[in-house]
Amino acid sequence: MVREIVHRIATTPFEGQRPGTSGLRKKTRVFMQPHYLENFVQSIFNCLREDDGADLRKEILIIGGDGRYFNRQAIQTIVRMCAANGVGKILVGRGGILSTPAMSAAIRRRGAIGGILLSASHNPGGIDGDFGVKFNARNGGPAPQKLTDRIYGHTQVLKDYLMLGSPDLELDRIGSIRLAGSEVEVIDPLADYTAVMESLFDFDILRALFRSGFHMVFDGMHGVTGPYARHILEGCLGAPEGTVIRGVPLEDFGGHHPDPNLAHAAELIERMDGPDAPELGAACDGDGDRNLILGRGFFVTPGDSVAVIARHAPECIPGYRGGLSGVARSMPTSTALDRVARRMGIPCHETPTGWKFFGNLMDAGKCTICGEESFGTGSDHVREKDGLWAVLSWLSILAVIKKPVSDVVKDLWLEDGRSYFQRHDYEGLDVTAAGNMIESIREGLPSLEGTEIAGSTVTMADDFSYVDPVDGSVSRRQGIRIILSDGSRIVFRLSGTGTEGATLRLYFERLRFDWDAGSDSVLQPLIDAAQNLLQLRSRVGRDRPTVIT
Ligand code: G1P
Ligand code: ZN
Repeated sequence: MVREIVHRIATTPFEGQRPGTSGLRKKTRVFMQPHYLENFVQSIFNCLREDDGADLRKEILIIGGDGRYFNRQAIQTIVRMCAANGVGKILVGRGGILSTPAMSAAIRRRGAIGGILLSASHNPGGIDGDFGVKFNARNGGPAPQKLTDRIYGHTQVLKDYLMLGSPDLELDRIGSIRLAGSEVEVIDPLADYTAVMESLFDFDILRALFRSGFHMVFDGMHGVTGPYARHILEGCLGAPEGTVIRGVPLEDFGGHHPDPNLAHAAELIERMDGPDAPELGAACDGDGDRNLILGRGFFVTPGDSVAVIARHAPECIPGYRGGLSGVARSMPTSTALDRVARRMGIPCHETPTGWKFFGNLMDAGKCTICGEESFGTGSDHVREKDGLWAVLSWLSILAVIKKPVSDVVKDLWLEDGRSYFQRHDYEGLDVTAAGNMIESIREGLPSLEGTEIAGSTVTMADDFSYVDPVDGSVSRRQGIRIILSDGSRIVFRLSGTGTEGATLRLYFERLRFDWDAGSDSVLQPLIDAAQNLLQLRSRVGRDRPTVIT
């Protein structure tokens, strides 16, 4: 017998900073404090009900996460709160699992009011790692800042929250039960996502590719994508068993950083070396929205990857046969996509960092494919970046073009030149010192124009402002860009997603047509110039980045 008593639990307003565009992201232990998670979740309900006038009894809400430590416990709490708040139907991914793109797909396919997603993306998990809660809205995308701000407003005046006194939900079995006035259904976390992939890609062509002996390796990094990759690659497409490595989601991601880049996917990169290496290597991050693409002994930069996908999608992927309405990249991302767009005769939008800007363009039908330098690629099939989608896109391109990964990318360079690109991260900086440094550079920007840097003239130096072409909203101070007369760019900005201290990101891009040099030598003059300009040693006590990607 289920005890269905709704408790009204007194609480005090939420302490801590305003959640950003990736939701609320904190150390796991912070989330485990009494009332912390509950306060945030109740504020979502209050916001939907009081500000937006939603009748929750008529709505579907979806819950799932990337399987990290505290995921299951948090889901039990949220289910009880949903039922206590009278949500009509609550859908929960089996085992508490839903990748970020799968959540987006499920919200859209099922017409849900939104979803509560538990993840801290590529940040490490575990009791001493990170945890996060994010609300995705009806379009399947992360809550826009305006909505996040309103939710935060509710956390500041919250006096109590509602919680159903009921036993734990059986999370590992598909099925449906009633809890108070709500129907709670445990759903297959793979079903909606797989259906969307089948609607975009030609699974027959991909099956034929694997039947012909095509060899790939997919690294799940012990994040949430393992089960999706096993189901789609090994199950639906017939890739041999063992194609997916590190495919079981673990609460601490096996002790690793589930971030698919050159620093954290070392084992995969090693496997991709040598003449017998697989033809395609790929990895996804903890929650499945980021991706890394490798050829045999060849790293595809995210900026080149999105350019290749956009260039070939209409010809190689049935879902894009009608052409692309436009493409978009975040400001720091390399300009390879701009050149492809020009060639294709479609608009290329340059947005601030963060996926929500792409979502607006997509909702307005202005963008089909987009990407970020931070290993995020996606399209308008969902409103999140989508790691496995990028892998299936590459497979489709290779199946049709029948060339090695490296040649597909080199063809791009031959057409339009090569954007050498690197990002240098300086992590764990003193917040005040980092803020002051950016401020003083910002003040000096006007006098930078016309000066010589790295053998070229500065043609433009500004702090990027973006006017959203859809709703006219203006986002200021989105990153400092210094553009040189040879087209090179130096960009820097402070991260908005770190959980400890400040992180400074420096981005370097240089376009070259003789593209056989190593990235380090081509970019060194820009790196030296940035060091000179920023005076990192004296300002923040560092002269070397923590991570280079
Ligand atoms: C980082 C990436 C950005 C991405 C975001 C969420 O944000 O740089 O491209 O959208 O994570 O995955 P940042 O920490 O730079 O603000
Ligand atoms: Zn992620």
